[in-house]
Amino acid sequence: MLLSTPEERPASFQLFGADPDIMADAAEIITTHSPDMIDINMGCPVKKVTKRGAGAALMSTPELARQIIEKVISKTVIPVTVKIRSGPNSTLINAVSFAQMAEQAGVAAISIHGRTWAQGFAGLADRNIITDVKQSVSIPVIGNGDILSHSDGLSMMSETKCDGVMIGRGALGNPWVFSKDGRPDTPEAVLQGARQHLELIEQFLPAERILGYVKNHISRYFKGLPGSSKMRQNIFNCNTIQELKNDVLMVN
Ligand SMILES: Cc1cc2nc3c(=O)[nH]c(=O)nc-3n(C[C@H](O)[C@H](O)[C@H](O)COP(=O)(O)O)c2cc1C
Repeated sequence: MLLSTPEERPASFQLFGADPDIMADAAEIITTHSPDMIDINMGCPVKKVTKRGAGAALMSTPELARQIIEKVISKTVIPVTVKIRSGPNSTLINAVSFAQMAEQAGVAAISIHGRTWAQGFAGLADRNIITDVKQSVSIPVIGNGDILSHSDGLSMMSETKCDGVMIGRGALGNPWVFSKDGRPDTPEAVLQGARQHLELIEQFLPAERILGYVKNHISRYFKGLPGSSKMRQNIFNCNTIQELKNDVLMVN
């Protein structure tokens, strides 16, 4: 999971956990892999993470979060950042005080997803909380939530004055989200993008061993295009990378 290529630098490696000593040890270990940044996950709502008090659950335990941040920073020379949510739930929106705590504890930047832990991925991300966090700290703030295009990113930056944006779901099957022109108009150009993605997966990862992951990513390219459900079916019916390449993506 720590593999990366020079082309994708700067790269941030993220840790999650709730035990300050274990997190500090983990930071020491990943420092030897020379990331450009180390991020601490304080935003993940997935049960298997939060039931151990990690991820978004740390929004409810800011004192523990502070200890984690301080211990991690004490064990690495790499800049440490945190990823947070707006708060644990709609009655406790504490991102501003949490961000101030994180800044005092020494983080280099904060990214904030404008939803609460309780919301998971429901509803819309709240840009006002991103504005409030930006106004309350002097370190860089990265806004996150529901950015589906280059222009969505620019509008979040101008509305909230955040220093940068983070894109999650909008980038799945759509690497063009980062460019001004966006996804190409023709199915052939989208297909070409999917082929290039597969080529890169094969170059850097054990593609055959992670066929399920590959199919999942490649099938997302065709979302919304005519014939996409048939395409998806064809992709998931493939038993090998070769089949996927030759029979579905028509790589010659
Ligand atoms: C499949 C998937 C995996 C994710 N994994 C992580 C993760 O490992 N760490 C993290 O901080 N956020 C993770 N997220 C959350 C995203 O970073 C982001 O906060 C969230 O998806 C909202 O942004 P979006 O609307 O652009 O998707 C993940 C989201 C998705 C959909």
